[in-house]
Amino acid sequence: MKILDIMTKQEGVDRLDMVNVLAFVLAVRQEEVLMNLDRSLDEETAHRVSALLKERSQGKPLAYITKRKEFFSESFFVDERVLIPRPDTETLVEGALEILNKKPNMKCILDMGAGSGAIGLIIAKKTGKRIVCVDVSQKALTVAEKNSRDLGVRDKVDFLCSDLFGGTRREKKFDMIVANLPYVAQTEWDSLMRDVKAHEPRTALDGGADGAEVYRRFVQELPHYLKTGGCVLCEIGGAGRAEQVREMLRAAGFLVVTKRDLSGNERVLIGSWTSLS
Ligand SMILES: C[S@@+](CC[C@H](N)C(=O)[O-])C[C@H]1O[C@@H](n2cnc3c(N)ncnc32)[C@H](O)[C@@H]1O
Repeated sequence: MKILDIMTKQEGVDRLDMVNVLAFVLAVRQEEVLMNLDRSLDEETAHRVSALLKERSQGKPLAYITKRKEFFSESFFVDERVLIPRPDTETLVEGALEILNKKPNMKCILDMGAGSGAIGLIIAKKTGKRIVCVDVSQKALTVAEKNSRDLGVRDKVDFLCSDLFGGTRREKKFDMIVANLPYVAQTEWDSLMRDVKAHEPRTALDGGADGAEVYRRFVQELPHYLKTGGCVLCEIGGAGRAEQVREMLRAAGFLVVTKRDLSGNERVLIGSWTSLS
């Protein structure tokens, strides 16, 4: 069967996703798919493409089909064990890199809720600094560990499976803590996209009744783990979440600066004991 026939036959999948799936199965670049629409595929390959396109039409995210997601211009391995890194999260990484650029003495960094490792591994790659990646999900850390090898930073990263700071030593303090913890409220759950609800790990998204339960526990423990002169960067989103977490940080004694994403939404809260500028 020809590529064009497969693309014409398949319903419910947008054209770009089709090209992505074909490029993945044929192990070629997307342009090569588009330039060879007349290419005939053997029966087994055609069957594999059709099966994956069917999964896509039923809502499986493209990144879980191709097992790759680009983040900060690097290619991350992803599957159902981890949240697919979102472009909005690049705002947090940019914020962290700006601070580390200005304060090269910050050496000890922790990525809380590391998932695929998107945030921490990019920081390790761009700065050469050591990172501790913490996640409550061992399955997620297995993916992060693979990504650390793929990105060539395995020797810079320690992995720790822990419910927040439970597994870290109290005497160990960090210069910078980055966190993208779950922040979806139960009331917002129904309005999430079907693909997200059905496929992405609930532990990565579910922030409890008001969406701020994990962040509430995180901010309570945070002061014990941050050095004087250190800072925390938290990704937030959703109705009212920025306000809730900002208040928690202020109540814990932090000065808080808010960073917006490219769509103008309040996306990252940067907390520090003293002004960072
Ligand atoms: C929103 S995802 C972020 C993943 C990744 N950092 C990113 O930005 O793409 C949240 C992550 O926090 C982890 N997590 C949830 N509750 C946690 C807890 N109590 N302690 C540590 N990690 C937790 C989840 O397993 C998930 O990997």
